[in-house]
Amino acid sequence: MSSPLRSFWDERAADYDSAGSENAEGYWRHTATNVLLTRCEADKDDVVLDLGCGTGNVTKTLAPHVKRIVGLDVSPKMLERAQMDAPSNAEFRQGDLRKPPHVLGLTHITACYALTALTKTERRALWDQCWRMLKPGGMLVVADLFWTVPPEQVDADFFEEDWMQSVSATEEMEFLERDGRFRVLMEPLHPLVTVLTAARL
Ligand SMILES: C[S@@+](CC[C@H](N)C(=O)[O-])C[C@H]1O[C@@H](n2cnc3c(N)ncnc32)[C@H](O)[C@@H]1O
Repeated sequence: MSSPLRSFWDERAADYDSAGSENAEGYWRHTATNVLLTRCEADKDDVVLDLGCGTGNVTKTLAPHVKRIVGLDVSPKMLERAQMDAPSNAEFRQGDLRKPPHVLGLTHITACYALTALTKTERRALWDQCWRMLKPGGMLVVADLFWTVPPEQVDADFFEEDWMQSVSATEEMEFLERDGRFRVLMEPLHPLVTVLTAARL
């Protein structure tokens, strides 16, 4: 993990949760989070890994509904906030999501707005790792800036940082589904925002 990215998120940790839905980026992030939470269909026996958990919005919301949940993030400042008022079955670890930890009995992997900086090669290596980590019937649920209309054709300022990658939702779905690895539900919420719910076959 490059330290500029870690510093970028450390600097935003204090204000991250107070940045609400007042702009389009915030509105669609909150909307996508809610869809992701619904698609998890969390159950009391589930074990979840939340990649790029930030201040723990997804981790702490899912925790009361599952057996165990691990939130992983590169930013110590984000994790400090995540640990505040965390349920006892929620555990937070600092690390790079490109090298996810082994979590026993993993049924779900979530990633909410956490993969925008990954290159295509890194993202696809991660999809393959998720397939190996999940047991059959497990679920990978990802909400992110995955476009269904090319960004240059959309009047929105979502791609403000130069490190943000442009990712086609359809291409990611096709990659996930190759060789019968996952069956994917693709839900475009906005031309630049998609939730992918991938059932591990
Ligand atoms: C936009 S925030 C999203 C936080 C949280 N998932 C949410 O929905 O509120 C992106 C988070 O991903 C983390 N992140 C980005 N790249 C990462 C990486 N390679 N490894 C671990 N965490 C990463 C950042 O530190 C940040 O906390």
